[in-house]
Amino acid sequence: MHDSRETFEPKAFVTGFPIKHSRSPLIHGYWLKTLGLPGSYCAHEVAPDDFAAFVDSLKNGESGFVGGNATIPHKEMAFRLADDPDELSEELGASNTLWMDNGRLKATNTDGRGFTANLDERHSGWDGAEKAVVLGAGGASRAIIQALRDRGVKEIHLVNRTVERAKELADRFGPKIHAHSMAALPEVMSGAGLFVNTTSLGMDGEGAPWIDFSPLLSDAVVTDIVYVPLMTPFLVQAQQQGFAVVDGLGMLLHQAVPGFEKWFGHRPAVDEKLRAILIEDM
Ligand code: ATR
Repeated sequence: MHDSRETFEPKAFVTGFPIKHSRSPLIHGYWLKTLGLPGSYCAHEVAPDDFAAFVDSLKNGESGFVGGNATIPHKEMAFRLADDPDELSEELGASNTLWMDNGRLKATNTDGRGFTANLDERHSGWDGAEKAVVLGAGGASRAIIQALRDRGVKEIHLVNRTVERAKELADRFGPKIHAHSMAALPEVMSGAGLFVNTTSLGMDGEGAPWIDFSPLLSDAVVTDIVYVPLMTPFLVQAQQQGFAVVDGLGMLLHQAVPGFEKWFGHRPAVDEKLRAILIEDM
């Protein structure tokens, strides 16, 4: 127990392997500074073989951290080693946010909420969409499908290069989710109000296949979880074809909010200045 009369400086981390490209220290550092709060947030590289020992040091207090974020490749282990993972983590089998609470290591997964919070902020009303198309079936797709289902999207069509992977995910999430191969894309896009790219296609200036977005509803929104570049090839194409687009940077910012609130006790705002700082850093 710390003495509340002294200034307690909570320390939080982001751990991954490698971790040096993480933008999370920039985000949390900005919030600590603008809110004038004591505390720190740092990148802490942990090799996969050392992760269990790191979690022990969190639990027994030796690390000095109040909690932190886990990213690739530690999200699954973070879930497994936490004392109390929440329901969101349980369903995904992965946690990205950890915090100590009365001697217990709690865990949640904020990726899905980050995704929907970004859409809420930049294209409110998107959740009127009854049908959504999600491209890709990796870890990010999983969290997004969970969030879309939980927000009441009635029909979610999961399209993936490896259709078996899409089927596996669809089975896990129940009858609202339908799995398809890439060849079915034009057909499944028909009448959808939301299109999400969760694959790495178009990342870091790599090319992406051309997509005819015209089968979507005319007021549909197209979004991408890739945020480097901010306007990905899919977003550029969709915009040129007259559709509303939402870039993926806000997902990164919004997924960070719940952790900050747990560790530092204040809910931070995702503001334009923070977006600008991250864009400048790209
Ligand atoms: P993450 O956890 O970040 O979502 P992942 O598990 O590696 O990453 O998943 C990447 C997704 O991008 C997968 O859906 C992958 O398709 P496969 O399941 O068929 O591998 C998709 N992906 C990556 N490169 C692709 C490409 N060139 N064409 C089509 N899909 C691609």
